[in-house]
Amino acid sequence: MAKISKNINYKTIILSITILGLLAGGSFASWQNYNKDKQIKILEKQINDIYAGSQQYSKDHPQFLGETSQTPETMKEPFSINGIIIADKKHPLPKDYNPGENPEAVKQLKKLIEAGQKSGDKYASHLVYDYSGFRSYDYQIGVYNEYIAQSGQQFADDFSARPGYSEHQTGLAFDLRVTGSILYRGDDKTYDYYNDWVAQNAHNFGFIVRYRDQWQNSTGYKGEPWHLRYLGQTLATDVFKSDKPLEDYLAISGGNYTKTF
Ligand code: DAL
Ligand code: ZN
Repeated sequence: MAKISKNINYKTIILSITILGLLAGGSFASWQNYNKDKQIKILEKQINDIYAGSQQYSKDHPQFLGETSQTPETMKEPFSINGIIIADKKHPLPKDYNPGENPEAVKQLKKLIEAGQKSGDKYASHLVYDYSGFRSYDYQIGVYNEYIAQSGQQFADDFSARPGYSEHQTGLAFDLRVTGSILYRGDDKTYDYYNDWVAQNAHNFGFIVRYRDQWQNSTGYKGEPWHLRYLGQTLATDVFKSDKPLEDYLAISGGNYTKTF
């Protein structure tokens, strides 16, 4: 009798432990799910705030919707929506805006370059650390004039920003290069955004490929497979998924300069 009851007790204990274990495991899983849902909600809210911010900004600042008379000389601070700084042909930066290279963006860029090198992709595997990042107003004078000298004003305006209008002046834009100091995909005439490793993976590191030929009416520039803009992973992924240029995503004006001087 004593032996039987000892056996029962032993089995009961094992069974109880198993049930408790299962219950604890289940609770942990649902706690994890709950946390994941909470995080997704927070990210969704951030993205909605950006949309709302851009709509409100457009209402408060109608001058930015159409022609703006602002220039790098008159701008007091960069145009931004919920902290997202915009630099394009309709939104100049203040002439003396000099934030330097954004350290977080550079950290992520290095990760992207390393991942590209290891990807085995025909083009991305040739990426090198020799990128062009922050460029001051004064530095951009040289870049833009060099384009004009080499290829004329039209070409220069299709591929290079005038001083005060370059995204590189924000410290958040980077031109990728491959071996031989050649701009990434610069020599590839069959470039396809949807097959391109950088274009399809940049958002995982917080970047978007900013300029595509078919977006020129919004971005103001011809396609540049090498030019990345840092937005952080959440926003970059959402912009990437939208398959829209940043100007359209944020519902702000874009395209050519107001004054085509
Ligand atoms: N190449 C880009 C448009 C710049 O000059 O900022
Ligand atoms: Zn660039």
